[in-house]
Amino acid sequence: MKRGDGRKKDELRNVRMEVGVLKRADGSAYVEWGNNKVFASVYGPREVIPRFLARNDRAILRCKYNMTPFSVEDRKRPGPDRRSVEIGKVTAGALEPAVILETYPNSMINVNIEVMQADAGTRCAGITAATLALVDAGIPMRDLVSACAAGKANDGIILDLSKEEDNKGQADIPMAIMPRSEEVTLLQMDGILTEDELEEALKLAVGGCKSIYELQKNALMAKYGE
Ligand code: CDP
Repeated sequence: MKRGDGRKKDELRNVRMEVGVLKRADGSAYVEWGNNKVFASVYGPREVIPRFLARNDRAILRCKYNMTPFSVEDRKRPGPDRRSVEIGKVTAGALEPAVILETYPNSMINVNIEVMQADAGTRCAGITAATLALVDAGIPMRDLVSACAAGKANDGIILDLSKEEDNKGQADIPMAIMPRSEEVTLLQMDGILTEDELEEALKLAVGGCKSIYELQKNALMAKYGE
């Protein structure tokens, strides 16, 4: 099967990552994933606002996902909407198992994801960038979180759907894992697949996450290595 951009079925788009890109954030990262351009920043651990959310046994992790109005073809209305609230929520769920929140009782860690250019797969790019920003902020982690989607388009099971493939695609499955244990921290799906197709797509997605894991480690080594 031939893909619009000439990729093989198990081939990622070009991915580039950089750690520590924003001076005044406690931690930050930039991820370019195909035509997606995403910044993640971390502020904290710091005082919990509003205070009633505080937990005396651990920190709380709050994630905000935002897409700029000019990030998509049809200008997006500024501000939160249902989709961005949902993505913020599933992002927090994807990251939380990896963050050792017990280290910081009565405090809050804020993760902000800003999508400057969107081209399908922004939640995976956001989770990948946010993980790097957490490490950059010095927050203790059990493992990195690496994300990637797989799905179905033109009747083929493929890794990392492009916008074109997503638009007329038959299924999309964003996934995040902690690669060392292969524990899954995000799994969503839209579309319809047979059981065999689902199994094949999940295998591809795990492989994609592992490739992303290697790139994350390289990006961290580029900043903190030696
Ligand atoms: O970005 P992701 O694949 O995680 O989420 P999605 O909800 O499946 O959106 C897929 C793509 O649709 C996004 O990456 C954007 O390129 C595009 N989109 C858009 O053009 N306008 C919106 N208001 C939302 C998404």
